[in-house]
Amino acid sequence: MTRVRFISADGSTVREVDAAPGERLLDVAQADGQPLEGTCEGQMACSTCHVIVDVTDFAKLPPASEPEEDMLDLAAGATRHSRLACQIYLGADLEELTVRIPSEVRNMQR
Ligand code: FES
Repeated sequence: MTRVRFISADGSTVREVDAAPGERLLDVAQADGQPLEGTCEGQMACSTCHVIVDVTDFAKLPPASEPEEDMLDLAAGATRHSRLACQIYLGADLEELTVRIPSEVRNMQR
């Protein structure tokens, strides 16, 4: 189980949900009603699933692939700890993961 914590864009709301190993972060977020559109359904073409990962947790995730990095370069408000939620599968050994929803979203498919 991974305890996933979603922090709203303005920091005012924190939601915690438990996710099973192997679940995709985007699916967990959408099931919780988080405002991540995921328009391209994981094709790394839209960047609407962009999240900013907690600094400590960021280091625990497998590194982003080159296509993911390329898409993040175009994502609005991206930081050094940005990831695409459609590319993150929760590992069995990941106990917790905290991510923040960015305040701006740019859909690169439009
Ligand atoms: S769902 Fe489009 S880039 Fe992740």
